Amino acid sequence: MQLSDTVDLTTEGEIALIRIDNPPVNAAGISVREGLAAAVDWLAQTPGIRAAALYAAGRTFVAGADIREFGKPPQDPWLPEVCNRLESCPTPIACILHGTTLGGGLEIAMGCHARLALPGARVGLPEVLLGILPGAGGTQRMPRLAGVAFAVEAITTGRQIPLHEARAAGLIDAEATEDMPEAAARAAAHAILAGTLPTRRTGDLSVTPDPGALDAARTRIRARQPHLFSPLKCVDAVEAASLPLDAGLKTERALYEACQASPQRAGLIHAFFAERATAKVPEAAATPHDITSIGVIGAGTMGAGIATACLLAGFPVLLNDRSTEALERGRNTIRANLDGAVKRGKLDNAEDTLARLDLADTLDAMAKADLIIEAAFEDMTVKTSLFAALDGIARPGAVLATNTSYLDINQIAAATSRPEAVLGLHFFSPAHVMKLLEIVVADRTAPETAATGFALAKRLRKIPVRSGVCDGFIGNRILRSSRLAMEYAMLDGAPFEQIDAAIEAAGWAMGPFRVSDLAGLDIAFAQRKRRAATRPAAERYVDTPDRLCAQGFLGRKTGAGYYLEDGTPNPAALAALEAERREKGLAPRPFTDAEIVARYLTAMIVEATQIVAEGIALKPIDVDAVLLFGYGFPRHLGGPLLQADLIGAATLVDRIEDYAREDAHFWQVPPRLRDMAGTGARFEDEN
Ligand code: 3HC
Repeated sequence: MQLSDTVDLTTEGEIALIRIDNPPVNAAGISVREGLAAAVDWLAQTPGIRAAALYAAGRTFVAGADIREFGKPPQDPWLPEVCNRLESCPTPIACILHGTTLGGGLEIAMGCHARLALPGARVGLPEVLLGILPGAGGTQRMPRLAGVAFAVEAITTGRQIPLHEARAAGLIDAEATEDMPEAAARAAAHAILAGTLPTRRTGDLSVTPDPGALDAARTRIRARQPHLFSPLKCVDAVEAASLPLDAGLKTERALYEACQASPQRAGLIHAFFAERATAKVPEAAATPHDITSIGVIGAGTMGAGIATACLLAGFPVLLNDRSTEALERGRNTIRANLDGAVKRGKLDNAEDTLARLDLADTLDAMAKADLIIEAAFEDMTVKTSLFAALDGIARPGAVLATNTSYLDINQIAAATSRPEAVLGLHFFSPAHVMKLLEIVVADRTAPETAATGFALAKRLRKIPVRSGVCDGFIGNRILRSSRLAMEYAMLDGAPFEQIDAAIEAAGWAMGPFRVSDLAGLDIAFAQRKRRAATRPAAERYVDTPDRLCAQGFLGRKTGAGYYLEDGTPNPAALAALEAERREKGLAPRPFTDAEIVARYLTAMIVEATQIVAEGIALKPIDVDAVLLFGYGFPRHLGGPLLQADLIGAATLVDRIEDYAREDAHFWQVPPRLRDMAGTGARFEDEN
């Protein structure tokens, strides 16, 4: 019998089988909740049925509450109520877990009276990763089954727990011997009837308080995640599990609602969807080229990182550089990268992987490759002559990619007779670790070529974001502008170490001056020199970093930049700044940390808005993904354009106009933002 759109129930003699079928991941949306509530009602009224089992169709048991319903008006029955009703059902219910039983899915399972899992099953309560906590009894029932210490660790990390560990902890009663959930459900219900599968109500179990485990969790969270709201609330909720169930559930509800109301919840859920939204591009409909071998040109850090990423994904790679010494250095970098992957548990055997690498000191060898990724020196003449040469070498149908970070890919493509085969694949260093891959679609790039870039990203397990051609594409364009805003703040009086500290305290992994030191001050210096001829006269110019470069302070690569090796400010940087202020007649003024962060974020929002308005990014959430997955933007803030929605366009317009009183060239209100302030439109509506 169909109980709701997504839940049905069948009877076989004295047993009932309840099935959830809500693709793709059986999320516990309203129709699942209605169906489960109806199943419990039906069982309570049907005494002839003496045992039941709950299972799900498809690739997984319930992977959580339906995240898409968050922030909308709640609809009865709520998941906590459904879990309570399952638990108090007079008919014993076994739950069959397969795939990834997460969040509300595990809470449903813990509300049942026995849990069996198919081989390979994993479970977890990942709510904390979304800025909330398990709000359907998870913080109360997990400690009852697995103890406080286990529960507080699992709930505050949100990690996925493999079957053997879940079983040892007491979350799973037994491994099912059947291959399919339905067969396992039938067997479990019969085992209940036969008395061979014991059942019990989780809520009836008691909890031994463990204040030591709770204190340790709080200490760890305060040290490692000081800006996050929900992890400490998770600990408070687990602490309440020592109370009677009803009181504990009440505490859990109050804490859950506080998390739901937090802007961090909006940020983290936005980041979850951003990770999945970027591959949705028009070119996804085109057929990608088959890629069986990859050529990488340039054996420097970037080329070696790209080659490592491709090797790790199982491709044979041909690495090209001009000298055997450069190639050997490249191979050593790749070997070190692969050894690192073995240490991190990402790879079993570095030598087998390295065996797929071939070295070639002539470009002609690239004739074999289906995809050629150029990671040579960042100079237009170098790139155009390389692409012109490749045009004569690459086989017909090969895809030619450049890893340029700034240069005009239309111009690079024009150096070949096949611009339709050319695209940008902008990797981020270290290329075998960073998740982001900007896929730069030039004016004449064919949809199949772009689709090949997206297919490659999938093989490399990277997050692909489509960008149009502009100076710096999406990420570096925003980086440049936000860094400039901070250089202006520095010149006007904010110490660079205050700027870094304020931005890091707001959740960024690294402040902009520390990032500059890491990347090398010469990189931005080269860009400034390239832009010098076209720089508008009205643009303020901060030359402290140029002075540092002139003195050989290029950042970490030379031992010092803004900071010395021990992390203290470099006296030469302070002196350069002093000198520049003196020459320009600037009297430094104090900045609050809040003002620094507001300016940093606002500069990003202004540039991001322009990028969307110009069509460089397809949708606002793509820009957020670039910042989140390539530039250390704090996940709980969700990205600059989510922040723009949360702050509100009208407030932003006022703020930018206020800043413009000091510098009307840099701080200009983007017309799109002004329109949005008038209409009340939000970036979210364009995703
Ligand atoms: N709600 C709504 N949609 C969901 C969802 C959820 N809980 N989980 C996944 N989806 C969607 C994804 O957005 C994606 O949609 P798309 O195809 O339109 O882009 C689709 O399902 C498939 O997801 P993935 O691409 O991520 O598939 P994978 O096979 O790679 O991963 C997964 C599957 C491991 C289940 C992964 O999707 C995941 O981790 N999901 C989130 C799990 C989670 O956080 N659960 C807790 C939810 S909060 C909760 O339960 C609150 C409760 O305590 C009250």
